[in-house]
Amino acid sequence: MANLPLPARISGYDLGMLVLDRPFLRHGRRWVCRRAHGRTLEVAIGTGLNLTHYPADVQITGLELNPRMAAHAQRRADRIGRRLKLTVGDAMSLPHPDDTFDAVVCTFALCGVGDEQVVLDEMLRVLKPGGDLLLSDHVRARPRPLRWLQRLADAITVPLNGEHWTRRPLHLLRSRNVTIEATHTRAFGILESVHARKPA
Ligand SMILES: C[S@@+](CC[C@H](N)C(=O)[O-])C[C@H]1O[C@@H](n2cnc3c(N)ncnc32)[C@H](O)[C@@H]1O
Repeated sequence: MANLPLPARISGYDLGMLVLDRPFLRHGRRWVCRRAHGRTLEVAIGTGLNLTHYPADVQITGLELNPRMAAHAQRRADRIGRRLKLTVGDAMSLPHPDDTFDAVVCTFALCGVGDEQVVLDEMLRVLKPGGDLLLSDHVRARPRPLRWLQRLADAITVPLNGEHWTRRPLHLLRSRNVTIEATHTRAFGILESVHARKPA
């Protein structure tokens, strides 16, 4: 990966994660990463917080829009001795050919991309037939009062920073040509992980 800006030693994102990761997000990271295998693409890899959760034999390719986040991910990979092939690019138009990866992972990022349907279709395009799509994110809650609060949050955060609280990738996957192998929800359904498989 050439010409990335040198990041500060700790990113603001990682500082926020010191509070959020262990109680809320780490379970989802582990759930998806332990299902990854072979050539795996992680879309919107951020600062690489999933890197420590992959089995040792997974070959990881990362894609990230923000060059500073990507530089943090590269530095984390170097620090823990994990080989990482990293590209700065847009998940809405993945630079990889069709049918390339055995698994595609995306965590806590479909809530913030411009169009999650386009990104889902791109991830399915680059998966090999029989490959595994592994997602974890915060999604629309089950209890109605929480959904109202999430709609309220959307009204503020969508215009502010593009963060959506009422998306649910699982619903979108049900209308696509995939098999849902497993799902896992926590925290009133707000945190959802999905394992979907592209037909062989
Ligand atoms: C909340 S962070 C999650 C990072 C990481 N996946 C994790 O689990 O810690 C969302 C990440 O998505 C990246 N992102 C947003 N839109 C993107 C896009 N269109 N293509 C690639 N990355 C994108 C952001 O730059 C950011 O690093």
